[in-house]
Amino acid sequence: GKAQAAAASAFDFTEATAGVDETHHIADGYDADILLRWGDKVLPDAPDFDPMNQSADAQAKQFGYNNDYVGFIPLDGAEDRGILAVNHEYTNGELMFPGLAKVVDDKVEMGDYTRELVDIEMAAHGGTVIEIRKGENGKWQPVLDSPHNRRITVNTEMALSGPVAGHDRVKTNADPSGTKVFGTLNNCAGGVTPWGTYLMAEENFHGYFGGELPAGHREEENYKRVGAPGGWYNWASFHDRFDVSKEPNEPNRFGWIVEVDVMDPNSTPKKRTALGRFKHEGCETVVNGDGRVVCYSGDDERFDYVYKFVTAGTFNPDDRSANLDLLDEGTLYVARFDEDGTMEWLPLVHGEGPLTAQNGFESQADVLIETRRAADLLGATKMDRPEDVQPNAATGKVYCMLTNNTRRKADEVNAANPRPDNAFGHIIEITETDGDFASTRSTWEILLKCGDPSIAEVGATFSPATSENGWFGMPDNCAIDADGRLWVSTDGNSQSKTGRADGLWAVDTDGEARGTSKLFFRVPVGAEMCGPYFTPSGETLFLAVQHPGDEGLATFENPATRWPDFDEKLPVRPSLLVVTKQGGGKIA
Ligand code: FEO
Ligand code: CA
Ligand code: CA
Ligand code: CA
Repeated sequence: GKAQAAAASAFDFTEATAGVDETHHIADGYDADILLRWGDKVLPDAPDFDPMNQSADAQAKQFGYNNDYVGFIPLDGAEDRGILAVNHEYTNGELMFPGLAKVVDDKVEMGDYTRELVDIEMAAHGGTVIEIRKGENGKWQPVLDSPHNRRITVNTEMALSGPVAGHDRVKTNADPSGTKVFGTLNNCAGGVTPWGTYLMAEENFHGYFGGELPAGHREEENYKRVGAPGGWYNWASFHDRFDVSKEPNEPNRFGWIVEVDVMDPNSTPKKRTALGRFKHEGCETVVNGDGRVVCYSGDDERFDYVYKFVTAGTFNPDDRSANLDLLDEGTLYVARFDEDGTMEWLPLVHGEGPLTAQNGFESQADVLIETRRAADLLGATKMDRPEDVQPNAATGKVYCMLTNNTRRKADEVNAANPRPDNAFGHIIEITETDGDFASTRSTWEILLKCGDPSIAEVGATFSPATSENGWFGMPDNCAIDADGRLWVSTDGNSQSKTGRADGLWAVDTDGEARGTSKLFFRVPVGAEMCGPYFTPSGETLFLAVQHPGDEGLATFENPATRWPDFDEKLPVRPSLLVVTKQGGGKIA
């Protein structure tokens, strides 16, 4: 019965109420404090945020736009001091820049971009690395004079490393070595490695390129498979490297996992090409029983795939520096989910199966540059937009967020993607055989089909103990807390789609309560919920509120909310929140 299942829930908190309004809401007894907002100082010499007089120089020293992934790396093993690593996925020019967007005929029309606006956007992308500390009052604060603080932008020098480094297909006029890339972009989710580095996943990189590929260019099919050039931004008008007619190989230098050594603010971030090139949602790692490290990553596109990478070497817990290049060697696998609940992880290894010269793969570098085509040939299972893929080290389970796919037709369903016109998404739970994360044959089942359980046609499978606040659609990111429990954040819920804002839900995975979900936090109107990340003790939770106010005909002058400042002189601002329990203790 309902009461029994509810009693078995692993979560004690009193649920928040679902809905949408101008601000955020959290479960009773918890505080959600603003830690960093777009434009806040990250470097000691950053100027104050001045929305009416923005510059690329200022932005490169301030917190970037659209915070997405959040990771926390404790310093000196202390729980009250650490480095926060935050992705800035993309920019909303219409909400950032005064006077740029106007509403004409019920549409938001963008004015002309100048080079300075483009350069501000480029500086607002990337990541922030910043030390934070918990004060005596129990509240977290940024440490603005910390030597660890760093902004990573589209202009930060990076190295291509691993099998693709130096390959002809990544050489450009500006970089004949094929090893030196400037910047990273569209970093959606990411990860923190067991050795304390920060992984930034490059997702929708295709959208930043413009121009036309020279006729008959060898990358034509490759770029078609990822949708490049997508022409979402105006960067190609001012920077040749984003114009594929001038630098046709540049898109091959994006779509990777970037590793940042946050302990050294002068370190060169590395694009780890061994992990494949696709629209990486994130990259979550776990140390396997045999010491090898396993990284899980979803390719966020309709009908694309779930991947994992198993390192060749093993993690050395006693020597941090010995681990710093572990991600350059190993085996990349793609998932095939079979109808009987078993699955196979198929190796993407040059020379094996169809991955040969006959099919245009001359080397492992070719396999990695065209990871999607290689996975197509192996017969991987076409999924409903794989987002975060999160291992649970304690249980050997792995959770795959499949956010939605309204283009799946009735004759295209399979056991792992069972709903045609899948508007609300689902969550798959993989059980790696005997807790071996490197296993190539495992099993899987669907944990949840999402959506409103009160509408029969939706076919949602939340447990009956789930309240009317507890269901959600469109799972996106997730986290496992200190007690091995699953928390899921969403992207795409809104007044018109589900009658509720995006948020963070706690989801039971075990026992009688399996499939029960409770609302812990919800975002203001127009936003999606990113993060989430728990500190090792489970007493602090970081949440990222991305693109708040982006609803309807929103512009700088008329956003759907002025969260979090509610000041007519300030624009709506994507911001990072830190959640703690009132009076201290675990988030439960
Ligand atoms: Fe940036 Fe997969 O969403
Ligand atoms: Ca997202
Ligand atoms: Ca998403
Ligand atoms: Ca995650």
